[in-house]
Amino acid sequence: MTKSELIHQLENTIENIPDFPKPGIQFKDITPIFLNPKLYEEVIADLADFSRGKVDAVCGIESRGYLFGIAIAVALEVPFVLIRKKGKLPPPFVGEKYDLEYGSAEIEMRTGQIKPGQRILVHDDLLATGGTTEAAAKLVEKQGAKVVQFSFLIGLKDLHGEERLKQFNATVHSILEY
Ligand code: PRP
Ligand code: MG
Repeated sequence: MTKSELIHQLENTIENIPDFPKPGIQFKDITPIFLNPKLYEEVIADLADFSRGKVDAVCGIESRGYLFGIAIAVALEVPFVLIRKKGKLPPPFVGEKYDLEYGSAEIEMRTGQIKPGQRILVHDDLLATGGTTEAAAKLVEKQGAKVVQFSFLIGLKDLHGEERLKQFNATVHSILEY
């Protein structure tokens, strides 16, 4: 499948749900991708090609970042490390707070699963405001590893998430951009 065929198929597969979870927000439902294993394989091939030979581990963000992140890591034959929402992981772990539209959230990662000096891919399904991904990257760098790449299935350009990730001097890849 060519890159433009992949983009075209994804555009026809991902469902746009208006006014969810709130009025005015258009939700992108990626779950139909998992009904089509061939398409899923093509997505993983694209994301794995972006990172092949360039990273020592993949960090995926709960929960939708796991859906592709583990498969990317397996394809690259590198470790996969879970970044989880607060309160799910046993100690020892490190945490990072970040702001939401209303209030704040926190994510956590077991200590010692990534090593100082490692080159890390931070992966998530969607880049919106970049708040979640920025916190994930800070968590990685707190542990002495270097974020060299970010990858997403979808990047929402209007929300300027990429600007927020510039501080990490890493390469950013989204298969689809809206
Ligand atoms: C969504 C999405 C990204 C994040 C993007 O996750 O999967 O992780 O929001 O938003 P941001 O760039 O503005 O931070 P959500 O927190 O809804 O949870 P889920 O992945 O568990 O569904
Ligand atoms: Mg998420």
